[in-house]
Amino acid sequence: MIFHRHITRSGYMMVSVAMLTVIAGSFSEEVYSQIARFAARDPGVRTGSVPADPKLPGLTPSEQKAFGIGLEAFLEVASVQGTIRDTEAGLGPRFNLDSCAGCHTHPDIGGTSPAINPQVEMAKKESANNDVPSFIKKDGPVREARFKHNPDGTADGGVHALFTITGRNDALGCSLNQPDFRTAVARQNVVFRIPTPLFGAGLIEAIDDDTILANMQAHSATKQSLGIGGRPNRTSGRRNTSGNDGTVTRFGWKAQNKSLEIFSGEAYNVEQGVTNELFPQERDETPTCYFNATPESRTNFDATDPLEVPSDVVKFAVFMRLLAPPMPAPDTDTIVRGRKLFGDVGCAMCHTPTLHTGKSPVVALQDKDVNLYSDLALHNMGPNLADDVSQGNAGGDEFRTAPLWGLGKRIFFLHDGRTKDLLEAIQAHAGSGGGQYVPSEASQVVGQFNRLNEIEKQHLLNFLRSL
Ligand code: HEC
Ligand code: HEC
Repeated sequence: MIFHRHITRSGYMMVSVAMLTVIAGSFSEEVYSQIARFAARDPGVRTGSVPADPKLPGLTPSEQKAFGIGLEAFLEVASVQGTIRDTEAGLGPRFNLDSCAGCHTHPDIGGTSPAINPQVEMAKKESANNDVPSFIKKDGPVREARFKHNPDGTADGGVHALFTITGRNDALGCSLNQPDFRTAVARQNVVFRIPTPLFGAGLIEAIDDDTILANMQAHSATKQSLGIGGRPNRTSGRRNTSGNDGTVTRFGWKAQNKSLEIFSGEAYNVEQGVTNELFPQERDETPTCYFNATPESRTNFDATDPLEVPSDVVKFAVFMRLLAPPMPAPDTDTIVRGRKLFGDVGCAMCHTPTLHTGKSPVVALQDKDVNLYSDLALHNMGPNLADDVSQGNAGGDEFRTAPLWGLGKRIFFLHDGRTKDLLEAIQAHAGSGGGQYVPSEASQVVGQFNRLNEIEKQHLLNFLRSL
């Protein structure tokens, strides 16, 4: 009995779930009891099949060249004054890491957190002597930290950079203290965000607002019966950093940011401390730590190659805009079944499988299907996921439906990277467990997921890891 041997030798998981469903009905009691004990499990990070070409297909020669220039900028490492070999000036005085690609790196450049967190080594780079906060672990996710409240109790919500340039060889004379993370942790005043992957970001940018709004209206009876609402975030929302034109914002965990270019400008200053034409002032202007004229990165008027004229911020945005979407695994029987169950239980009511782009000056972005598995809308996810940070229209318990494309190769899940396990990520949607039960907009859908049998759950997880 081949199946039986597989089961006892290597655990239930080694048996293909498709096989189990096929064979159920013709086996001995012993095998039945094995099947009954089968528990669905996250199959883990999918390896292999990285796309041969990281760029979108169908780019013009100059777009291809601009992509290459953007990629170089994205890989660039910042130092304080540009005096260290192969670096650009502008780092700090406060920062979380020294390059875009350092945080957005897995499974390829433009992705998200790698298995080994580069922030641990960053703390001491160039003789700096930063403490590594307790929530930064070598085998944990890259994190940025926000404080919920100021010491006087008013709302904060801003990013408090982990590190300072104090002690670095290239920052003599600068003396700054890191934020008091120990106290913030003790008072449960600190919340985290992990990097979102950037593959296919240009396609997300090219979706018309009306497409997002119409998709939110679709299946309204089903959504209502499942307790699913949702609303767009907008530039006109309270506390929004993206301007005032009133259009739908879509980037970041709370869909708080309007465009790849604005995100680039903000990330350059917030994550690396590099001032730029979109965010020209240092976030900390302590005179002894103020080494360069600001903005530190700007348009290169003297460049001879016209593609080199734009500032780094523009180059980053071009790179991300032209980055290919993730490539899913080829369909198998279990993946096809899982996709159907994902729809049947209602996951797809928020995680919309496909939206379509509108008109775009970049032909490769125009009129394309975007298989992002998100409605790009905000949903109330309940107190279990709430971070008490408001951004634009997004309240403390609201998040953008996380796009699930590329999920198969991701290591860390949810906005704060709290888990590596897909099942835990799903259960975290369900609302609060402790004390008084407070539901989320996904509670009923998670309930339906929980009522699937273990083999069906396994199909669904296999489908998620195919993305
Ligand atoms: C220290 C790690 C870190 C570095 C360095 C970093 N990022 Fe990020 N990135 C993040 C985190 C965390 C988020 C999620 C932020 C949020 O939603 O609040 C993010 C999100 C983004 C997004 C939003 C994508 C989406 O669809 O939501 C873009 C765009 C982005 N980063 C671009 C950049 C660029 C360009 C650089 C370099 C200038 C950069 N990042 C450097 C951590 C980093
Ligand atoms: C009410 C809308 C909604 C429904 C229904 C929903 N999700 Fe989500 N999902 C979200 C939001 C919002 C997030 C981001 C939450 C966070 O990070 O705090 C998310 C995150 C995720 C993540 C983590 C992704 C990442 O980038 O880390 C996975 C996996 C996921 N959902 C799977 C599912 C599955 C499977 C179902 C069906 C059983 C489901 N979701 C149903 C809204 C929803």
